[in-house]
Amino acid sequence: MSIIKELQSTIEDMVDDKRGILAADESTPTIAKRFEAIATEPTEENRRSYRSTLLSTEGLGDYISGVILFDETLDQLGDNGIKLPEIAWSQRIVPGVKVDKGKGPLAGAPGDMITYGLDGLEQRLTSYKEKGARFAKWREVYPIGTHNPSQLGLTANAEMLARYAAVCQSVGIVPIVEPEVLMDGGHDIHRCSIVIEQVLHAVFHALHQHNVSLEHIILKPSMVTPGKALSSKAPPHEVANKTLAVLRRTVPAAVPSINFLSGGQGPEEATENLNALNQLKDKAPWQLSISYGRALQQPALKAWMGKNENIALAQAALLKRARLNSIARAGEYNSELEKS
Ligand code: 13P
Repeated sequence: MSIIKELQSTIEDMVDDKRGILAADESTPTIAKRFEAIATEPTEENRRSYRSTLLSTEGLGDYISGVILFDETLDQLGDNGIKLPEIAWSQRIVPGVKVDKGKGPLAGAPGDMITYGLDGLEQRLTSYKEKGARFAKWREVYPIGTHNPSQLGLTANAEMLARYAAVCQSVGIVPIVEPEVLMDGGHDIHRCSIVIEQVLHAVFHALHQHNVSLEHIILKPSMVTPGKALSSKAPPHEVANKTLAVLRRTVPAAVPSINFLSGGQGPEEATENLNALNQLKDKAPWQLSISYGRALQQPALKAWMGKNENIALAQAALLKRARLNSIARAGEYNSELEKS
């Protein structure tokens, strides 16, 4: 298959008007934090067992079209002895992999961050592909501060995302492009909307300069919300209107799908906001979907508590969130459905 056909077939397998992406790609230190909250040891076996639980959820493929895995998961086996990426694909859930190597301070731009991992990326992608990954994810992180992101921060992070995306496409891997504007801080929703607009403008400029095929990427942005330190949240219709306004100004219609991160929104909040966005979908030339980590997994983690006897409860909790987000993609979610 030619590279372009390969990219197209992955997009077709991942993008539809009902399903979303499950982000289960927490790095080893991040999953350790999640496990600490449920008093579970962060051993390799516990990580394998937890991710096997998620991916073996019967019916998950009705609502989830792709799963982002962490490096080690590509080699791990489910409880049935089958490789975890194969278990995902048996339900038509496309396996993908996080390929960035975490973030640190951006020298010369106090307060801004930059992500590592471009060196050797092509070789790593080739090896991930042999293990079944068909797409990748790379996250750049933008804290909002009085002077951040700076112009240098905007340009340098956009450049990283574009270089990553171009390398992915050159080897037939669909890149998820994730510029995450953090919710941390006491900024208002207006400031958030200005920053996300600057970020996306810079990102699409860089993608263009690096000859990235926009038809073969998935954008994973933050929603426009007030900072978490503020005592009140914005209502879903305001989040949806402001998010869509920014996306319409910055994201070309050639992009097939926008899959939001949850970024610290609670599970129900993230579903409500997705629902409000999809109620405005006649203004959107792209699919408006999810690539949630915490907002899909939190209830499942709490139900599991690191115990084999809770596997069925954890799977039911995951399936419920996946199903409710699928209903939200039709703009038909309401909080009464939480009781079902
Ligand atoms: P959250 O939905 O928990 O923000 O995670 C998504 C993700 O993949 C962050 O990189």
